[in-house]
Amino acid sequence: MSEFTKIAGDYDKGRKGEAIEFWADEVTRLAHLDWNSQILDLGCGTGLYTRGMGVETSATLCGLDPSLGMLERAREKSTEVHWFCAVGEGLPLRSGVFDCVFSSQVWHHIVDRQGTADECGRVLGERGTVVIRTISHDQLRRKVVFDFFPEIMENQLRVYPSNDDFTRFFRVAGFASTEFLAYDLERYQGVDELIEVAEKKLWSMFRPITHEGLEKGVERLRQHERESPGEPVRNDETITLVVARKTL
Ligand SMILES: C[S@@+](CC[C@H](N)C(=O)[O-])C[C@H]1O[C@@H](n2cnc3c(N)ncnc32)[C@H](O)[C@@H]1O
Repeated sequence: MSEFTKIAGDYDKGRKGEAIEFWADEVTRLAHLDWNSQILDLGCGTGLYTRGMGVETSATLCGLDPSLGMLERAREKSTEVHWFCAVGEGLPLRSGVFDCVFSSQVWHHIVDRQGTADECGRVLGERGTVVIRTISHDQLRRKVVFDFFPEIMENQLRVYPSNDDFTRFFRVAGFASTEFLAYDLERYQGVDELIEVAEKKLWSMFRPITHEGLEKGVERLRQHERESPGEPVRNDETITLVVARKTL
């Protein structure tokens, strides 16, 4: 059973407070989407963003993920989306049919990133756009969650592709341009919520943490609670949208 399938039932708890409507609007604007568009959500997970984009655009949506457990949760959210099990490296889809391939917090899990960029280029139409919701290395270095769990930052810097990596993948895949838009959205999370995310490893960043690193981080969060009772932790949504266009 994959790590994502194990946590699928609790996964959405760890994504509370994300500005899904805002991100869906940004993707719609950047990829010029409307009701007539065909959108692929690559690594859709439990379908939070797939559903969000469906609400904003009324477009035709496909959601793809290799984890059957995550897809099971996604299917509960919409019967209109075409959900299916696959990996980004080998899309079981015809060439040239999509207007946008969207992907949120997925590329650090992909093994063959160049192969996936090539596949995105293949399934997109001539004027198609890839929009990837990720965290840049600069943003990772500033993430508040690492003030509490410093041990896991190095691993995140290793696994997340850098902006230069993305530029190379899409240039090699034949795209005309790749740009990076950095965002910082104010967000607050309760201490108990963050402890649950860490202990249940609802964010994959917690997977490599040692028992000691986890305990120390939880203690730092409890310390915050003792010093400022009831006050949530400011843990902003620091996100970069990578926008790769096939034609200018
Ligand atoms: C952190 S979750 C993000 C889910 C969803 N996009 C969201 O933002 O809520 C990462 C997802 O990527 C999927 N994934 C892992 N490897 C993948 C691959 N090679 N191709 C496509 N999806 C992959 C996982 O199964 C998981 O559902």
